[in-house]
Amino acid sequence: MTKAKLKWRQLILSLGCLLLLLACNNSYQTTNSGIQTLKVATDPTFIPFEIQTTSGNLEGFDIDLMKALAQPATGIAVKFESLPFDGMISTLQAKRVDAAISGITITAERLKTIAFSRPYFKAGLAIAVREDNQNIKDFNSLKGKKIAVQIGSTGADFAKTIPNAKISTFNSGPEFFQDLLNGNVDAVVSDAFATLYAIKNGKLKGIRVVADLLTEEYYGIAAPKDSPHLDAINKGIATLLSNGTYKQIYQKWFNAEPPQLPDSWQ
Ligand code: ARG
Repeated sequence: MTKAKLKWRQLILSLGCLLLLLACNNSYQTTNSGIQTLKVATDPTFIPFEIQTTSGNLEGFDIDLMKALAQPATGIAVKFESLPFDGMISTLQAKRVDAAISGITITAERLKTIAFSRPYFKAGLAIAVREDNQNIKDFNSLKGKKIAVQIGSTGADFAKTIPNAKISTFNSGPEFFQDLLNGNVDAVVSDAFATLYAIKNGKLKGIRVVADLLTEEYYGIAAPKDSPHLDAINKGIATLLSNGTYKQIYQKWFNAEPPQLPDSWQ
């Protein structure tokens, strides 16, 4: 082969590779085996559902669940993408990701713009206060108080219903608990399980959770409205629930028997 011919050959080969790379850089890809890689958004500041270790790895209940869903049998593979919680719903709406798992509560309001899988976790909001605070016991005692919440969360929506409350909003969990400890606010309204876990594992000192839950909520895996993947995700959750994998993951993180879950929301 002449030198010129060899050059041409190399050029055509590299162009081919480039095209192949571009073709694969879709939001999801179908490989020969029929496995689709979903881009899954998560906000890893929500212990123990999603957290980023110091070495940069993602860990948590949601991460384990999503990884367990990503099996050849479900035809799904997963690629996580970290995203602030507040931007998650609009990112799903714009279809920049295929799904999101982030302790996201299924609500009627959110269902107007995005879709959810069947419920995968029973949750609820609770009030957190400084350990020495005996005055705040329930919804009524929150009236007129200074309350911290996470932007865009169900806790933030709930706080809006408290008469005369002064609400401070934060981007992530660790920040609003700091504000509570500093005495800048009287209470935090947020997801009970996350707060209880952090207290139990010594990550939050000086804070306690008021016993009664304010709401009953269910987390779902979120997806764009007409997502072609929801069916596989739902079937996957059903399998994990029936084959004991869900129970195993639940026990790993919460050291308790999982409660019964409904197969659809409301
Ligand atoms: N469950 C609450 C909600 O849906 C808060 C979830 C916060 N999750 C997170 N990864 N920061 O609004």
